[in-house]
Amino acid sequence: MENRRPLIAGNWKMFKTCPEAVETAMQLAQLVNINTVDVMIAPQFTALVPVSDVIKESCVSLGAQNLFWESEGAYTGEISPAMLVSAGCGYVIIGHSERRQYFGENDDSVNKKIKAAIRNNLIPILCVGESEKNRESKETFNVLDRQITKGLEGFSSTALDTLVIAYEPVWAIGTGKTATKEQAQEVHRFLRSMVEKIFGNILAKSIRILYGGSVKPDNIKELMEMPDVDGALVGGASLDAKTFSEIINF
Ligand code: 13P
Repeated sequence: MENRRPLIAGNWKMFKTCPEAVETAMQLAQLVNINTVDVMIAPQFTALVPVSDVIKESCVSLGAQNLFWESEGAYTGEISPAMLVSAGCGYVIIGHSERRQYFGENDDSVNKKIKAAIRNNLIPILCVGESEKNRESKETFNVLDRQITKGLEGFSSTALDTLVIAYEPVWAIGTGKTATKEQAQEVHRFLRSMVEKIFGNILAKSIRILYGGSVKPDNIKELMEMPDVDGALVGGASLDAKTFSEIINF
């Protein structure tokens, strides 16, 4: 992990009503008091403002699960970067596999969203990962190469200095199947080498690469021991404050 500060992020997906989200966030803010790790939760949109209120004095930061790249306009159902900032967000998850799978997101829309996030000083968490079919047909590295090359096309390395990458193998999301620590390390090393090839050594050394896919209190420690794993993007296990706090305090 070298000198990179770990980030443990919770993606709450489409779970929790506003009161439920506020309750969990409040519990988490009380349970977590750590200054060696960055912590972020990403509740659904309508819970952003009330959750922001209850975590503002804590070490927990707020993130969104998506954004639209335009700053405003007739885009029914969409949300702009500035709206997220005004709701208290510091982070935004971009290109999650569920958005690619169910909502037609692709490398091109991901690229525009990352640009919009950076323009608005939101820290983008770019999600990449191969499907089970990709892995079986030995396409993993080709798929990741494409997602990184196209997703990050047209950026300078300095523009990307806050970027976080999350490696989420689709076959490990919500399935209880975690990549082994060796599988995670192999891919994280590959992703870092891609960043080095495209953007140079300085960014490659500083960029944080998170692992996501069935992260739990009992597997976080071994994942975090890998030299290129800098944190986790946690789904199911972030929904319960106590379980998530155990992951944070790995
Ligand atoms: P799970 O932790 O539920 O497998 O989800 C991972 C994920 O998709 C986080 O973004």
